[in-house]
Amino acid sequence: MDGPYGAPMADMLQIRYPATGVEAELAITDATIKAPDLRQFLVGTEPLATFDPGFMNTAVCRSSITYIDGEAGVLEYRGYPIAELAEKSTYLEVAYLLLNGKLPNPTQLAEWELLITEHRLLPDKLRTVLAGFPYDAHPMTILMASVAAFYSFYPDARNFEDPEARDLNIARLIAKMPTLAAFAYRKGKARPYVNPDDNYGYCHNFLAMLFKQNERRYVADPRLVRAMEVLFILHADHEQNCSTNAVRSVASSGNDLYTSASAGIGALHGPLHGGANEAVLKMLREIGTVDRVPEFIEGVKAGKVRMMGFGHRVYKNYDPRAKIIKKSVEDVFEVTGVNPLLKVAQELEKYGLTDDYFVRRRLYPNVDFYSGLIYEALGFPPEMFTVLFAVPRTSGWAAQYQEFITDPEQKIMRPKQIYTGARTRDYVPMEQRT
Ligand code: CMC
Repeated sequence: MDGPYGAPMADMLQIRYPATGVEAELAITDATIKAPDLRQFLVGTEPLATFDPGFMNTAVCRSSITYIDGEAGVLEYRGYPIAELAEKSTYLEVAYLLLNGKLPNPTQLAEWELLITEHRLLPDKLRTVLAGFPYDAHPMTILMASVAAFYSFYPDARNFEDPEARDLNIARLIAKMPTLAAFAYRKGKARPYVNPDDNYGYCHNFLAMLFKQNERRYVADPRLVRAMEVLFILHADHEQNCSTNAVRSVASSGNDLYTSASAGIGALHGPLHGGANEAVLKMLREIGTVDRVPEFIEGVKAGKVRMMGFGHRVYKNYDPRAKIIKKSVEDVFEVTGVNPLLKVAQELEKYGLTDDYFVRRRLYPNVDFYSGLIYEALGFPPEMFTVLFAVPRTSGWAAQYQEFITDPEQKIMRPKQIYTGARTRDYVPMEQRT
């Protein structure tokens, strides 16, 4: 016999609340119970709820995009292991996979690449918006504001229930992110903007828009193009992380993709999330030399500082992305020369993997630990690092946005609170307030 939601009776959680004597069986589906089912237990007059700051143990959606097994250090996009995608695919192929659930065949890939190439240019008037930012503006603020501004150029993004309009705006955003990121970078350097080159693929074109100087044609070293593809693939999606949750939350009030993605960029900017790569480099520079690592580690253990680029809410094992990035570091350094901070990073990692403090808490290097070293070797200033995370994460945000708005189970996000403030006070007129 089946219980509610079709779960077999064996998959039931029996709960008894002695205070009222109420007993109930809650269905367990996909290793979860439905929090609203707890409402049948009354505590006084209040229906029972769960308290879960930071969503430590709460699923907010069903998703078929990205799978993570944090205990085993496994990451898969649409069922494909990340290492295989990083080795064999391009970023645009992976973006197609995230959005469509399957790898593109050659015709589909060619059409997708063409669509992205056609939409790379920024709206002309956006250049006026960009001109208004101070020269030392953090590029993440430029990115966030400009992506939000896209909605004024493409108001059809509100027709998100129309798959055609939705697909078009997804393509527009993925296509324009590198252009926007490169413009933000060049603005900080007071260099003239470089328009996209239709002859180049996504990552090569990005490098050209960033680094082209007076040469007639910028040609990037293929090893750097490949390293960029790999970094972009690794950063493309990561299930319900802080920024994806921001995207879904903003989308839940009926918002367009641009407004939602701009919220994601804001969330990503924080040092506990995507901003960690910038913070890692700052940390490595402050430590400076290998002999100062033990002193730094003592500071971490005393709770004075965090070891940035270490630890993860989900991974309790080596972050599989960090493993792949470590390999890319070698490839990039072959072209650019070795970043002297690599030795400091390696020494920190040695402590991280052996010292009891980190071992007991199961803190391992995450995606941000080595990526900053690559970005610095490529000549990026630290404030660009999180931008280099936001550009590829756009395809993940778009796939999650699409999944959210086509999911009939989803609702406007509106968590509960436990109110701890005063109640029903007598109003005090101004003249009586001390
Ligand atoms: N350095 C030192 N101690 C740490 C660190 C760290 N990087 N991360 C966690 N801990 C300790 C923490 O102090 C706590 O110890 P105790 O139990 O004694 O209080 C314990 O480990 C659990 O930490 P938590 O903060 O409760 O864990 P969380 O799941 O809430 O936070 C995290 C996860 C990623 C925010 C955290 O590990 C962190 O701050 N790491 C550094 C920032 C970083 O590298 N972020 C990038 C994450 S990967 C990119 C992305 O997808 O965002």
